[in-house]
Amino acid sequence: MKKIFVNIKGLLQVLDNSDKLIIGNRMKELSKIDNAFLLIEDGIIIDYGPMENCPSLNSIEKVDSKNRYLLPAWCDSHSHIVYSGNREKEFVQRISGESYQTIAKNGGGILNSSNILRETSFEELYNQSSKRIEEVIKLGTGAIEIKSGYGLEIEAEIKMLEVIKQLNENYDISIKSTFLAAHAVPKEYQNNKDEYIKKIIDEWIPRVAKEKLASYIDVFCEKEYFSVQQTRRILECGIRHGLIPKIHVNQFNHLGGVSLGVELGALSVDHLEVMEKEDYSALKGSKTIAVALPNCSFFLRLPFCPAREIIDKNIPLALASDYNPGSAPSGNMNFVISLACSQMRLSPEEAINASTINGAYAMGLSNKLGSITEGKTANLILTKPISSYSMIPYSFGNTLIEKVYINGKEA
Ligand code: NIG
Ligand code: FE
Repeated sequence: MKKIFVNIKGLLQVLDNSDKLIIGNRMKELSKIDNAFLLIEDGIIIDYGPMENCPSLNSIEKVDSKNRYLLPAWCDSHSHIVYSGNREKEFVQRISGESYQTIAKNGGGILNSSNILRETSFEELYNQSSKRIEEVIKLGTGAIEIKSGYGLEIEAEIKMLEVIKQLNENYDISIKSTFLAAHAVPKEYQNNKDEYIKKIIDEWIPRVAKEKLASYIDVFCEKEYFSVQQTRRILECGIRHGLIPKIHVNQFNHLGGVSLGVELGALSVDHLEVMEKEDYSALKGSKTIAVALPNCSFFLRLPFCPAREIIDKNIPLALASDYNPGSAPSGNMNFVISLACSQMRLSPEEAINASTINGAYAMGLSNKLGSITEGKTANLILTKPISSYSMIPYSFGNTLIEKVYINGKEA
């Protein structure tokens, strides 16, 4: 089945097959074809170019894209959208002055979500999570990474990973799965963290890897959570079992987890609200991508990740939603892009690069998603009629998306 988009005002993020990641000054450019066409067949991009080269194809579906931009769908490389219930009460507590950390210390936070999740059936968890998947697809997301980490006991962790697997089977967007048992220490191990880590290493990681339930292994490396040394043990075990590391790191404190991530060949280090000299030097020239999560800073009133400095130092950067019930209850990548521009001083071009091809890189998907490239999957955003693509970050809180296509089909 073929489909052709014609009269596209601007076809954005047109890249060569060899471009898997954009860094430094190249982030400032967004390759674009004005007044373009794009041809897809069976969900794959097969041709594109200026309208004067548009093939005359009869009897195939034509989408007149006059005054509209067509671009690759957002690639959201960090989310926790498989969760149960919500934390609106904690939100109200935080507004009235309690901190995220104090709430967590008193048994709220991740442990609160964990209590609810353990009591939730697979079916119910699937239903709640699939609504979120449908919601983010409508907002232009065409690939997403999802973490476990609210089970904190093996059966509940497996339930989360099985839900992710089922979502991947039932939806056409690309979904990558991450094992994050080391997200917090559950209350039954509160006085015996080492025993909890031992369980993760000796039993859980081998089982998750054997059942092929995750591609990545993640740890929340932070004071009161997991130290650098503990993070190392868990990630090294993951590596031995074929899982690639990602880390939640430098959210509140610099402990040295960024250097550890780079040393262990982590695909990404995420959060980075606090960055020190040593972190920049470790990342520079490495294959590890920095992932900034502006929705989390916005919602928790934390400092924003110094993404401007990261780009200026030629360190690869992606943007992601962190969609989760505690620190970022929104998966709206359009808003992420707005915040990245208004609060982190990224240009629209940089923010779009960070949310498409670089987001795909942070999920190991840049060979099939994240750009307009022959042979890539046609996960696309068609905007409403707009004057320029800068309207996307400019119109914060609004969605300028007219249609989303996943595997070439209207979502
Ligand atoms: O990425 N920082 C740790 N984990 C999540 C938040 C989890 C929660 O509060 O439920 C994050 O922000
Ligand atoms: Fe997170």
